[in-house]
Amino acid sequence: MRDAQPRTVYLKDYRKPDYLVDSTRLRFELEPNSTVVTSSLEIRRNPAAGEGLPPLRLDGVNLELVSVGIDGVALGVDEYTCHDEGLIIPVHRGAFTLEICNRIDPEGNTSLEGLYLSNGMYCTQCEAEGFRKITYYPDRPDVMSKFTTTIVAPRDYPVLLSNGNEIARGEIEGDRHFVTWEDPFAKPAYLFALVAGRLEKVEDQFTTMSGRKVTLQIFTEPKNIGKCEHAMHSLKAAMRWDEEVYGREYDLDIFMIVAVDHFNMGAMENKGLNIFNSACVLASPETATDAAFQRIESIVAHEYFHNWSGNRVTCRDWFQLSLKEGFTVFRDAEFSADMNSRAVKRIEDVSMLRTTQFAEDAGPMSHPVRPDSYMEISNFYTLTVYEKGAEVVRMIHTLLGEEGFRRGSDLYFERHDGCAVTCEDFVAAMEDANGVDLKQFRRWYSQAGTPLLEISDDYDSAGERYTLSVRQSCPATPGQPEKKPFHIPLKLGLLAGDGSELALDTDGTRETVLEITEAEQAFVFEGIPERPLPSLLRGFSAPVRVRYDYTPAQLRLLMRADSDAFNRWDAGQRLAFRALAQLQQDFRAGVELQLQPELMEAYRSILQQEDLDPALVAEMLTLPSAQTLAEEAEVIDAEAIIAARNFAEQNLAEALFEDLLETFRRLDHDKPYRPLADDIAERRLKNTALAYLCVTEKEEALQLADTQFASATNMTDSAAALAALVNRGDDQRAQAALQSFYERWKEDDQVVELWLAVQSSSPKRGSLEAVRALMAHPAFELTNPNRVRSVIGAFSNRNFLQFHQPDGSGFRFLAEQVIALDKLNPQIAARLVTPITRWKKYCQGQQEMMHAALQSVMDSGQLSADLYEVVSKSLK
Ligand code: PHE
Ligand code: ZN
Repeated sequence: MRDAQPRTVYLKDYRKPDYLVDSTRLRFELEPNSTVVTSSLEIRRNPAAGEGLPPLRLDGVNLELVSVGIDGVALGVDEYTCHDEGLIIPVHRGAFTLEICNRIDPEGNTSLEGLYLSNGMYCTQCEAEGFRKITYYPDRPDVMSKFTTTIVAPRDYPVLLSNGNEIARGEIEGDRHFVTWEDPFAKPAYLFALVAGRLEKVEDQFTTMSGRKVTLQIFTEPKNIGKCEHAMHSLKAAMRWDEEVYGREYDLDIFMIVAVDHFNMGAMENKGLNIFNSACVLASPETATDAAFQRIESIVAHEYFHNWSGNRVTCRDWFQLSLKEGFTVFRDAEFSADMNSRAVKRIEDVSMLRTTQFAEDAGPMSHPVRPDSYMEISNFYTLTVYEKGAEVVRMIHTLLGEEGFRRGSDLYFERHDGCAVTCEDFVAAMEDANGVDLKQFRRWYSQAGTPLLEISDDYDSAGERYTLSVRQSCPATPGQPEKKPFHIPLKLGLLAGDGSELALDTDGTRETVLEITEAEQAFVFEGIPERPLPSLLRGFSAPVRVRYDYTPAQLRLLMRADSDAFNRWDAGQRLAFRALAQLQQDFRAGVELQLQPELMEAYRSILQQEDLDPALVAEMLTLPSAQTLAEEAEVIDAEAIIAARNFAEQNLAEALFEDLLETFRRLDHDKPYRPLADDIAERRLKNTALAYLCVTEKEEALQLADTQFASATNMTDSAAALAALVNRGDDQRAQAALQSFYERWKEDDQVVELWLAVQSSSPKRGSLEAVRALMAHPAFELTNPNRVRSVIGAFSNRNFLQFHQPDGSGFRFLAEQVIALDKLNPQIAARLVTPITRWKKYCQGQQEMMHAALQSVMDSGQLSADLYEVVSKSLK
């Protein structure tokens, strides 16, 4: 918590560090309320930073300073300055050893940043600026140092871990022992980690491409030791993939993962010692859904990939965060695409991007992929930095091609290994390796907002000439009223009336990438024998919106015949958007609702296409979510969105009942569980059919759910049946299912979280009163972010109906919870407040109530810097 308004940090103010730290020796004596940290730093004036010997400034927050010494001589209290955010020490020599001793309170640390306790286990989280909560240090990523760490703890903490290799261990009198770790790679402090606890491990081995053997270990609390197999399998697959696709080999003799219950994010790539949110690593068929299995696979890979894209080559400053995150998300997405269905992975990612990142980019916190200022860096671990950042890397990949991109990444790793660099360095490596100019492309890093492509066309039948005219624009965003044109790769194909693909040139090419660089541009295709139907932005080749005036018949043709699976899905989405927009309009006008017959027919024919990947069918059958409709709307009218979507879903479910039933029965066989793409796809379609069937609330359908609930042997089927029974049908049935589920799984944290989320996200069963009751349940804990996300987060982000109750009670509830949370965990508070920061987009009544709720947060007293930044920017 702070005294004054938090200050803003600007990219333009970046200066090289005055001092470098060649080596860092740390010693921890662990005690819950008074851990003693002793450090010995070999410090040297940075020759690249200028003349003279300016004072040394170290960061430090919530530390109790015990002593400071230089080269073995203790400093008197008047020989340095200790303030709220650090230490200032005068310097008299160009190189010296600094010794510091301080105390910290892990047990009292609920921010989950720095050193803290989770269920009795000590663990650390240092990214972005958590190391300063451990000891005084130049806590910035461009100061890279070799760490040696000694952990001293009572013997009932048998496992003591840190980065690198274990080099010593021993007993200390008085029931204590120690272990010393040495990390041979210089790293910034944000990659430091320490773990101590009563943990068990599973162990495996990986042989790298050069034949080195690496020990792989996953540590958990004893009760979870049976849930590590999938993560281990994913880790080995990721290690192999990074060798094959990027030529990157692992560099230490040991790689460790630890599962932790209290964690603000998904996981953390600390060198050689990744720390994971339990929910993102632990799984077994009985307790984890397919979605969880896939999420674990991708996060394990993501953190592993950081070893090169993040650790070996790191960020110069936090404005460059997307350098490691955008690139690593792109890498993990490609890995997942290779392990599973590429098209389905792309659809999932894009629909998430369009719903949530587009909304962020159109909201008060909109910022470029490389932000140019922040108050609190934790607020910039955003969808823009991660997901849009990954799209930017993907566009480079599209422009350069597979091989060109690999040449670029090879050069990047070679040039910058062991360095802290910038997004500019990444783009420059791509350019230099390929002899291309990406000058204009760089605007993707500096300009915020989602570009819009307005596309029209013209066909000259006499000349067999087809002209595509493209106009690009980008809305103003905070601090950026005008935008310059982007360099946009537009991948496309042209379809003939029978759905076949037309040749685009004399070589017979059927797909091309147009490079849009101007505000307005026309592209001419010669020798086109008939008026074509353009299949635009295939595979979502750029993070933009596309407007083109398709007729419903054209969309149905694309849905049926496009060779690009992503665009088949997208055509279906466009058709659904249209129908739902019409329904919303009719609802507001008080006109009787009617579903467009085109949509019904399109959906029926999807179900009948037996040659399609079942997961793709499931995606195509799913109506855009209320959140997606809200993002698409000019002005959000929550009531109209809910009415339209419910009406469409109801009508589809009734009209297609027999087809859905047939699909369900066809896929309802009991196979032993395997988390493999084909099986996941079948379960996905089966459970999508089940959810639709239950929309009708027909007894026949609810019985299917009952039967599946009673007989399921894996969590995917069990959770799907539970959700169907909670969301539809009578109370008694729902309560019975909820109760037996809880009784069976109450000891399993991950399943309990699922049980909480099913209820708080349910339009039918997740009223505000029900959510408050869940918060009073023993399973709820305000200091555990996973619990907070599964109750408060699920309610405000996924329960559109109940959160948007016309009396504004949902908004006030969220404000109240955010205020309470800010005292415990500012990062979580600042994230959770998001839904009410979008007040400007709502229709008037809702807008006023949301604004009032947000204002009440501001007026509630002293806010953390995290929450203050988000709330103050959103009130503007
Ligand atoms: N660097 C982590 C990742 O994306 C995310 C993270 C950020 C975790 C900050 C904890 C704190 O892989
Ligand atoms: Zn990451």
